[in-house]
Amino acid sequence: QLALETTVFGRKAIILNSTLSTQGDVQHMAEQGQGEGAVVLAEEQTGGRGRFGRKWFSPPGRGIWMSVLMRPELALQNTPQLTLLTGVAVCRAIRSYTGADAGIKWPNDLLIDGRKVCGILLESTVEDHEVRYCVAGIGVDVNFDPKDYPDDLISIATSLKMEIGQNIDRTKLAAAILSELERLYFLYQKEGFGVISSLWEALSVSMNREIKVANPQGIIEGTAIGLDPSGALILEKKNGERISVYSGEVSLVN
Ligand code: BTN
Repeated sequence: QLALETTVFGRKAIILNSTLSTQGDVQHMAEQGQGEGAVVLAEEQTGGRGRFGRKWFSPPGRGIWMSVLMRPELALQNTPQLTLLTGVAVCRAIRSYTGADAGIKWPNDLLIDGRKVCGILLESTVEDHEVRYCVAGIGVDVNFDPKDYPDDLISIATSLKMEIGQNIDRTKLAAAILSELERLYFLYQKEGFGVISSLWEALSVSMNREIKVANPQGIIEGTAIGLDPSGALILEKKNGERISVYSGEVSLVN
């Protein structure tokens, strides 16, 4: 069971042995009227999903596969803020609980030494141009050994265990993530996005680097110079022009 320090997040928590995707489980609970902060954790996902319709590798007993229900008062154009907030919260919890040197690749992949240790998927359900609820999906590779990875992931992914050389208590780390997530979520509701934005910039590995962002509109190259007030990434192109990028896949140039 989860030993929680939170007042809302995780107070309703369901822990499953195996499920298709905790995202779907929480979406279902949301549709049934479940309140904010409800959480589903699974030992294994058989249909874990990632951004851009990708699959998320979620084998049993090795990771944190968790989804959290949020019901924010949020304008549609500000949903990227919640995506970034979730990344900041998980990054800070991982750093303080394990000491691992995790950083954020825009928008919210967590990397250690250039390899991905955590992915976050924020899915919003919208009705009449208003956000009804959001489900924040968090996948952390915690106790993977190299042999647990399929060939296509071994060079791009890593686990906390592989980085710090010891097993980590997944339940305690999940509780630490929920605490930090709730703390920042309340702070955000009280103070707005400014604080979160500064925290994000401080943890980001994309900042002040020359990067390439690929999205359906094409590929844009420039230096990441910060976030705009909606949470979009501001890129400065070689000719000095500044553009805001709302979604896409970042890679470093050089
Ligand atoms: C990504 O980097 O593409 C996002 C990955 C998100 C994975 C988590 S694991 C818990 C939750 N359930 C899912 O099916 N996906 C998210």
